Amino acid sequence: MKITCHFQPDSSEVDRWIRHFSQLLPDAEVTRWQPGDAPADYAFIWNPSRQFITEQTRLKAMFNAGAGVDAFLKLGLPVSCPLIRLEDAGMGEQMSDYVVQAALHHFRGFDRFQEQQQAALWRQRAPSDKADFPVGVLGFGVLGQRVARDLSAHGFAVHAWARSDRDTIDGIRLFHGEHALGEFLAATRILACLLPLTPETENILNRENLGRLRRGAYVINVARGAHVVDDDLIAAIDEGQIAGATLDVFREEPLPRSHPFWRHPRVRVTPHIAAISLYSDSVRQVVEKIRRIEAGLPVTGVVDTGRGY
Ligand code: NAP
Ligand code: GLV
Repeated sequence: MKITCHFQPDSSEVDRWIRHFSQLLPDAEVTRWQPGDAPADYAFIWNPSRQFITEQTRLKAMFNAGAGVDAFLKLGLPVSCPLIRLEDAGMGEQMSDYVVQAALHHFRGFDRFQEQQQAALWRQRAPSDKADFPVGVLGFGVLGQRVARDLSAHGFAVHAWARSDRDTIDGIRLFHGEHALGEFLAATRILACLLPLTPETENILNRENLGRLRRGAYVINVARGAHVVDDDLIAAIDEGQIAGATLDVFREEPLPRSHPFWRHPRVRVTPHIAAISLYSDSVRQVVEKIRRIEAGLPVTGVVDTGRGY
């Protein structure tokens, strides 16, 4: 069996992925893709080049080295085999830690205490009540469900928004579809975005939708930068409609040094680290799926390219 690995930008990281695959599949030939390579059976990819897709047309499956496939789909090329994404693979816990800390940071007023420290100001504040800080999770998939459950376990009242209808899970109220977005936003004081980036969800955090949140709402974006209209978010914060934001993802990454998010006192920036693909968990998941495909069994995590996630 031949597995080809192709990441853009190309980096020494690829060698580590190759070592992990070789450990679990010692009989496989696992290589870094080079233009003109012979056809492989499987590919492990991130943000692949057009040349890769047009050359490697005899793959049995392509495995995306992350949960989001927007970088792949934006190439707009026909896909000749199943595109399979990572499902949790160790990202759920990281994502949950990130969102829970951001929600608690806002709820406990740590931004204010940081400002007070800078002014050497000792001032206690009356505790807030979590009942006054309902959390809305945009996207109730693999990662959104994990985050929603853990926020709920921390005592927040949690509701979520998805595309398809289903029962409420673990006390989490579920809204679904475009028509329910307004009601979902109106009920939200802390918003966590865990949507995939698709034509329907791009720019979803725009002036209009930010204005539908409860006044003084807090925004956490751990999905993709293009969900947010940057100028609209900054204006909403400056006007007091939004209290502040914790942002892990940006339209342009690395976030340009001149971008106002870096210096805005109500914005916290992290460099797309909310949930990193872990070598061993990810490769174990991919290898298990390769074994199932080889045995003629179905696998989960196959992307619906028409739907965009
Ligand atoms: P997932 O399992 O595919 O879940 C996607 C969720 O979004 C589903 O609940 C889906 O609804 C909902 N959704 C999609 N389009 C919608 C629409 N138009 N309206 C309403 N709901 C919609 O994805 P995941 O594994 O949880 O990952 C989510 C995203 O997180 C990824 O796509 C990626 O961009 C991002 N991510 C970021 C990082 C980071 O480090 N910052 C790390 C990993 C992932 P249905 O349930 O009805 O289908
Ligand atoms: C990271 O952003 C991912 O999509 O896995």
